[in-house]
Amino acid sequence: MRSTTFANGDRMPLLGLGTWKAAPGEVGAAVREAIRLGYRHIDCASVYANEPEVGAAIRAAIAAGEVRREELWITSKLWSNAHGHSNVEPALRSTLADLGLEWLDLYLIHWPVAIRPGVGFPSSGEDLLPLEAIPLSDTWRGMEAVLERGLTRHIGVSNVSSRKLQALLTMARQRPEVNQVERHPLLQQPQLLADCAAAGILITAYSPLGSGDRPASLKGADEPVLLDNPVIGAIAAEHGCSPAQVLIAWQLQGGVSTIPKSVNPTRLRDNLAAADLTLTPPDLERISGLDQHRRLVDGSFWLLEGGPWSLQTLWDEP
Ligand code: A2P
Repeated sequence: MRSTTFANGDRMPLLGLGTWKAAPGEVGAAVREAIRLGYRHIDCASVYANEPEVGAAIRAAIAAGEVRREELWITSKLWSNAHGHSNVEPALRSTLADLGLEWLDLYLIHWPVAIRPGVGFPSSGEDLLPLEAIPLSDTWRGMEAVLERGLTRHIGVSNVSSRKLQALLTMARQRPEVNQVERHPLLQQPQLLADCAAAGILITAYSPLGSGDRPASLKGADEPVLLDNPVIGAIAAEHGCSPAQVLIAWQLQGGVSTIPKSVNPTRLRDNLAAADLTLTPPDLERISGLDQHRRLVDGSFWLLEGGPWSLQTLWDEP
């Protein structure tokens, strides 16, 4: 399995299991099966509302002697209602309690968006706090503190533009080591990748398969179905593999970590086997041609009347 090695010598497998949208009642079995198949990287978040079940599956696998905690890479994320330096440690401790683990391998600020404490999801602009009220740099101080306390071995961000990242880097005592963002052939993000590479920050790609199981409220009417893309399908047919495997191999070959979600044992196996697929230079060229800078998770759920955000200020794009 391809991995990246961080400055402290820790190795993170590039291919992980996504747990966003994996429902309680099925996520535990999926995590357990994934570990049996050989997954060693599990991507979690408190807002996915399934961490207790994910944690129970991880602990069961450890108790059964299938894996040691040290062999696993567990990521989780700070939800937006716990921004501000003093809120980070309680939020992380709550995630650790839910997972039943003593430490995380990686903790990320989930979005560069702050919600009023006590509010799960904003229902009006008043539930959102502008970055001037709680700057990302303030939340970052809390992230550095939990790192120094050993509650997580690495810290990073998610959904953060190059511009916000540069501002963070100017004040960071401990630099973010990962930026987790949406990435797939329709949204290839070459500039963000280059900027992160130059800063020594690893990209983890979420929604690598197009997240077709998103709730309807998070889908546009004319949305493309990535897994049905004819170019991806043709490449898959030439290699005798599945479109999902092409999408995953493309990320790994580019040195990008990725976290395809599945709760289905056959697809879990299929996705892991993508690590053995090698795409040819002409395949890569054809996939390059698919970029439309098309976001599937465009963050429009943060745009509430009277709130501080627009898509321009969220992504720092025209
Ligand atoms: P399921 O969980 O039933 O396998 P993403 O990782 O981009 O969020 O995409 C997740 C979606 O892709 C889920 O609907 C998941 O369904 C589906 N999926 C996962 N692996 C495969 C695969 N190998 N082939 C087809 N669909 C897949």
